[in-house]
Amino acid sequence: MKISICGKGGCGKSSITTLIAKEFAKKGYNVLVVDGDESNLALHKLLGTDMPKDFIEYLGGRKEFVQKLKSQSIGDIKLFDKLSIENLPKDYITEKNNIKLLAIGKIHDFGEGCACPMGYVLREFLKSLNLKDNEVVIVDTEAGIEHFGRGVEGGCDIIMGVIDPTYESIGLSKKIEEIGEKLGKKVYFIVNKMDNETKGLILEKVNEDKIIGIIPNNKDILKLGLKGEELNAEIPEINEIVEYLTK
Ligand SMILES: Nc1ncnc2c1ncn2[C@@H]1O[C@H](COP(=O)(O)OP(=O)(O)OP(=O)(O)O)[C@@H](O)[C@H]1O
Ligand SMILES: [Mg+2]
Repeated sequence: MKISICGKGGCGKSSITTLIAKEFAKKGYNVLVVDGDESNLALHKLLGTDMPKDFIEYLGGRKEFVQKLKSQSIGDIKLFDKLSIENLPKDYITEKNNIKLLAIGKIHDFGEGCACPMGYVLREFLKSLNLKDNEVVIVDTEAGIEHFGRGVEGGCDIIMGVIDPTYESIGLSKKIEEIGEKLGKKVYFIVNKMDNETKGLILEKVNEDKIIGIIPNNKDILKLGLKGEELNAEIPEINEIVEYLTK
């Protein structure tokens, strides 16, 4: 199972990626979390690991990779033969409790160029990665839907949209549903940061059949995230989501 976690900026993608990864690991799965966000730097903190080296360096570095893209026709470039989680280059992975973390690449410097090469690597990586029954990949994507434009979700089985109580997020969920279904992928939603006052307003606007979890506004998630500490929070709704995905 390869799951892409997507949604508006700040809706809770990285927190939910972490909580779901931990729940899968608790159930005995080998989990690979792929950090597909070129900007934010805290996912490893939530997972309680060190920050891995940029995976794009494994391919010679961003600059060289862009040169390669320019010099060949895109269809000719084959980045990977078949990949498996156990054979990923160890230098580019950090790990804790059966959860591995791989980060495609971050923007580090002024003027270094756009993030398209990272999107390309992510897409090809996901397409080439073969999984065993007890393995799961969770991709924490960059905010918004540019990654759909780059075709990243082509390599995933499930698109999981996170919706927070904002008008923008509800609007984006429609787009995610539309694109996901056009792609022929399973689309699910998690409604996050919910309280009793906003619940009704959201549920009447989102396709309820697709909602597989409603996560309350939770002070522990907020506090641990704020302190940059490992996200060890007991959220019963996360267990229900993973039960649903594995049934
Ligand atoms: N259920 C929740 N209850 C309370 N706070 C939450 C909840 N989920 C996430 N948060 C908080 O919301 C903020 C954004 O969360 P997070 O970083 O996971 O979102 P994101 O979608 O990954 O953001 P970005 O688009 O910047 O990558 C953080 O401060 C986090 O602690
Ligand atoms: Mg994030």
